[in-house]
Parts: sequence; C-alpha cells; structure tokens
Amino acid sequence: MLVAEKIADVKANVKVWKKEGKTIGLVPTMGYLHEGHASLIQRAREENDIVIVSDFVNPIQFGPKEDLATYPRDFEADCKLCESLGADLIFHPEPSEMYEDNFCSYVGVNTLSENLCGKSRPIHFNGVCTVVTKLFMISEADRAYFGQKDAQQLAIVSRMVRDLNYNIEIIGCPIIREEDGLAKSSRNTYLNPEERQAALILHKALTRGEEMVRTGEKDATKVKAEITSIIESEPKAKIDYVEIVDWNQLQPIDTIDQDILCAIAVYIGKVRLIDNFIVTE
Ligand code: PAF
Repeated sequence: MLVAEKIADVKANVKVWKKEGKTIGLVPTMGYLHEGHASLIQRAREENDIVIVSDFVNPIQFGPKEDLATYPRDFEADCKLCESLGADLIFHPEPSEMYEDNFCSYVGVNTLSENLCGKSRPIHFNGVCTVVTKLFMISEADRAYFGQKDAQQLAIVSRMVRDLNYNIEIIGCPIIREEDGLAKSSRNTYLNPEERQAALILHKALTRGEEMVRTGEKDATKVKAEITSIIESEPKAKIDYVEIVDWNQLQPIDTIDQDILCAIAVYIGKVRLIDNFIVTE
C-alpha cells in the first residue's frame, strides 16, 4: 500500500491508474478508523480496481470551540487497517498541504446545511464540501463512499455532486453499530464507562421512533415527543436536537408522508453524539 503525504504524489499515481483504465474508489476519512470506516473500505474494494483512503483531520470543518486539537489520531493503526483491507493508497497530508497560505475558495450547499447539525455548527458543512471537493479532484475517483451515520453530510455531498455536475458517484453505506446498538464513531473514545452506558439511550430512542413511523404514525410531533422523552429519561443526556426532516431538502416536516430522515444530536456529558434513521417509501 502506498502512503502519500503530497497531493502531487497522489496525482502521479492516479495518472498511471487512469491511463490503465482502472476505476478508483475513494473513502474520505478523518482517521482513527473503526469498523464503520472498514465497511466503507470493503465496499470500495469490492466495486473498484483501486481504493484510495484519505486520512486527514480537516481543520476548516471545526468551529473555534470544537475538538480539532483533541480529535483522536492513530495513523499507524489506520495504515495497518487499510493495508489489511487491501487499500492501494492512503493519503495523509499536512493541513498546509491542503490549505496553502491565502487559501480562500470554498464550496457550500445552502438549504440542506441550514438545519440539524448546521444550526449548531454553522461553518461545518462548507468545510466538509470544500475538502471533499479537493479530494475528488485530487483522486479523480469514480465513486466515493460515505456512511449514513453522518446522514446530513451524505445528503449534502450527494446534492453538491448533483447540482454542480461532479463526475463521481456517491455511495451511501449503512450505519455500523456496536453489539449493544451504539453507532460506531471515533468520538465514542471520549466516553467514560458510565457515559458509554448512558449513550445507549440514543439507539433506544431511535428504535422506538422508527417503530412508530414504520407502523404508520404520520404525526412528526408525536414521534419527536416520544424520542425526546426517552432521551430525557437518561440524566447524563442533554439534547441538542431531535428533528424529522424530508430526506430531499432536509426541511422540518409536520406530516410523515414522504421519505424522511429522523436525526438526533445528544450530549452525553461533554461528548456530542449523532445518530439517525431514514425511512423511504
Ligand atoms: O465524515 C468525515 O469523517 C469527514 O467529514 C470527511 C467526509 C472525511 C471530510 O473531512
């Protein structure tokens, strides 16, 4: 497996692969890889000749009070995992390689970035769209793989690709959970044992909400109220949001009569966790 820190090195390899007519799958990550990432890499491995994994904690998607400095990192372990899964190249640039002095070109998606995480993280999705655009350009990937765990990110990146005619297919992949239901996340490592236990409330609440929707409940307010009351039964949990939006535009809805995303963000102690379910017709 090749390890590249420079954009020029990735591009040189991509040029050769493209000349040979090979298809390229990209898995963009911020490292500290877990089984969720592994499932994306495996899927990319199945569907492409070449698999590139990017491993870059993207500074421009973190707000000033967020966890950029403390975001967990373990590049050695990431390399081992990528190699064991048959990735061809891992791209691990320094921030200065991705953002030169005077960098000032950003990509943003309007409506879809307004709600859910966009409310409390106003610059986040512009940072994501910008870095993802750069990674698409650098890798010239045919396909890119994103987890449904970050459902708003998946919707926004898919929309950006459609709206701006990017030459890449976005593949959304299912949420990977621990055996007890907690969605896998690099940020789970911040939880102490009691918080780890308390965090199960997210999955419990969403399971009940999804059951209500799947058995015919159309009133979004009722579903949100039920989810909220389950989460509030856990003293260590503090809700950031519980929202039901249409899966197309990510706008809040009152009546569940279309494809929906039900998304939650909850603080367990100081750790902000997100989770969701999607119900399509
Ligand atoms: O989902 C993530 O880990 C990041 O937002 C991404 C897509 C790698 C962009 O930095």
